[in-house]
Amino acid sequence: MIFETHAHYDDEAFDQDREELLNSLRDAGIGTVINVCAEVSGWDRTVALTEKYPFVYGAVGVHPDDVGSLNEEAMERMRDLCRREKILAVGEIGLDYYWDKENHETQIYWLERQLDVAREEKLPVIIHSRDAARDTLETMKRKRAGEIGGVLHCFSYGKEMAREYLDMGFYLGIGGVVTFKNGKKLKEVVEYAPLERLLLETDSPYLAPVPNRGKRNSSLNLPYVAEEIARIKQVDTETVVRVTEENARKLFGI
Ligand code: NI
Repeated sequence: MIFETHAHYDDEAFDQDREELLNSLRDAGIGTVINVCAEVSGWDRTVALTEKYPFVYGAVGVHPDDVGSLNEEAMERMRDLCRREKILAVGEIGLDYYWDKENHETQIYWLERQLDVAREEKLPVIIHSRDAARDTLETMKRKRAGEIGGVLHCFSYGKEMAREYLDMGFYLGIGGVVTFKNGKKLKEVVEYAPLERLLLETDSPYLAPVPNRGKRNSSLNLPYVAEEIARIKQVDTETVVRVTEENARKLFGI
């Protein structure tokens, strides 16, 4: 079954129909979901989702847009949450120079601190990197992130950068953008990278694939992403679903 490696079901975009939607996933072939935190206020909501739904797991971390509010006390709490059985990763963490909400030094500092927590708690990381290719790669290398392992979520760079992360042992998260007409760069990356190193993700409620581009996204749209990867790799969709599920189970240890 499809393994959704990146969704934000604690987002208010799902307040109207969260339960109904989550309960409909298994019948639609979505077997497992990782709910990824973006901010400290999402940690408890994510834990609650993992307690309510057997197939929902969690990742705890703070997105680069929100690291301005972080402190060491929060890091301690994060560490405690990492020890919960259904928390599988630290994320999403990284650098975002597109929205540029926090200065670069602050973003890099908290990326490093959260990488430290992941290393100490022996969890993989879910990395967000937008318009920050060089600093992300330098930070990851400096912190020897290859020893920690993880995924570059919503991968948005080209083949050269993909090779750097593949060499580091990282996976690439592929979502709706691969179906976009202007998603040529990502299609090339998917063609280039081994299927054994790709993960399916939506980043719901954002980035819905064609034919639902622009609408609220949910894991129900993942078959469109799997179909496009299958077309590019010239394999059948079931193979994409099966291999990416195996990849996710291996990375996240379930
Ligand atoms: Ni996300």
